[in-house]
Amino acid sequence: MGTTTRSAAALAALALAAGAAHAGEEKVKLKDAPGLDKVRGVCVACHSLDYIPLNSPFLDEKQWRGEVNKMAKVFGAPVKPEDVDPIVAYLAKNYGRR
Ligand code: HEC
Repeated sequence: MGTTTRSAAALAALALAAGAAHAGEEKVKLKDAPGLDKVRGVCVACHSLDYIPLNSPFLDEKQWRGEVNKMAKVFGAPVKPEDVDPIVAYLAKNYGRR
């Protein structure tokens, strides 16, 4: 078995392990932009960050704000009041409905 084949097998094993990991250990890659660190810090606690790209066709800025507030107020997401604006801005800019 050549080195290429072997590392491909190792990668496949890694991918399997990642797939089995808890949703908190993120493999979803969100767009790198201001506010991403805050989104990553808060939004992985309960569900996959997949929820963000999955909902991007439907939500505009106002609706994203509603989502973030709902996560905080209804589900108890630990969003600091001063982080709401940067998080909403990030979501609307990178994953907002156009
Ligand atoms: C305290 C737990 C918690 C945190 C933290 C959290 N969410 Fe959620 N989120 C939920 C629950 C519960 C649901 C609805 C049930 C489900 O589908 O898993 C949900 C659903 C969603 C949905 C799907 C639409 C909907 O309203 O059901 C989106 C989009 C979403 N979350 C975005 C976010 C974003 C953005 C953040 C970071 C600001 C975040 N969530 C942080 C608990 C959380």
